[in-house]
Amino acid sequence: MRIENSCVLVTGGSSGLGAACVANLLRQNANVVIADLSEPAESVLQEFEGRVVFAKTDVCDETELRAVIAAGEDRFGPLQGVVTCAGVLHAERLLPRDGVASLDAFRRVIDVNLIGTFNTLRLCGEAIARHDPNAEGERGVMVMTSSVTAYEGQIGQAAYAASKGAVASLTLPLARELSQHGIRVVSIAPGVFETPMMQAAPERVRQSLIEQTVFPKRLGHPDEFAALVSHVFQNTMLNGCTLRLDGSVRLAAK
Ligand SMILES: NC(=O)c1ccc[n+]([C@@H]2O[C@H](COP(=O)([O-])OP(=O)(O)OC[C@H]3O[C@@H](n4cnc5c(N)ncnc54)[C@H](O)[C@@H]3O)[C@@H](O)[C@H]2O)c1
Repeated sequence: MRIENSCVLVTGGSSGLGAACVANLLRQNANVVIADLSEPAESVLQEFEGRVVFAKTDVCDETELRAVIAAGEDRFGPLQGVVTCAGVLHAERLLPRDGVASLDAFRRVIDVNLIGTFNTLRLCGEAIARHDPNAEGERGVMVMTSSVTAYEGQIGQAAYAASKGAVASLTLPLARELSQHGIRVVSIAPGVFETPMMQAAPERVRQSLIEQTVFPKRLGHPDEFAALVSHVFQNTMLNGCTLRLDGSVRLAAK
């Protein structure tokens, strides 16, 4: 997929990893549609005026997602790229000191991280499949955000790890199915990245995660995630897999 002049939708594009993707894609002359519950930085909307649209969107809501896809295509033409970064973090033991884990909290994490991702892929997939393919038969590329917790969830991460493991598991069946439409599907499983989501974690947790990272001994920069997303868009042989981007971190039990 050629990034220049393409139309790319980024969920969760107002913050962290999604915002880094938005900025990187705009620098590469893509047109970008941001679907997020919170507003993007005013500076992004101003600097790239005319090439970026934002609509307040809950990824779990079919009507809102359809509206933002339609708004993006009206403005920029056929949708080709999708990046799903909308997500929430939640930590809770199954059996905390008092009581038992909240079922509502578990449902909320699965709703946003898994069902919101699936909702985005199905509605964007429907839009992309309607358009003409390029010379190689490719119509578009969808990149989902999983997590290394898909493989090594820590104590307290049952809900989050289950949601991200499910995203990794969606990747191959969707890539297989959508191949007939010329659409590739790839997931990225980040290790620990310096974003508002991680900034909310206590300092001792951050330090412990850095210690568990083999090399480099630091949190990942959102730009490094964005660079991989752009590579996936451009490398037609990448399909149906989940790529770890993690400095070789292997999360311990806690
Ligand atoms: N930061 C990390 O270390 C890390 C590691 C692995 C995976 N991830 C995943 O990467 C993705 C991005 O995380 P981040 O660190 O940039 O977090 P972030 O909190 O900075 O950004 C998440 C964005 O998602 C949006 N969002 C939340 N719920 C939404 C909903 N229902 N509909 C639309 N938008 C919604 C938020 O408003 C926010 O802008 C998440 O899926 C997260 O689970 C992050």
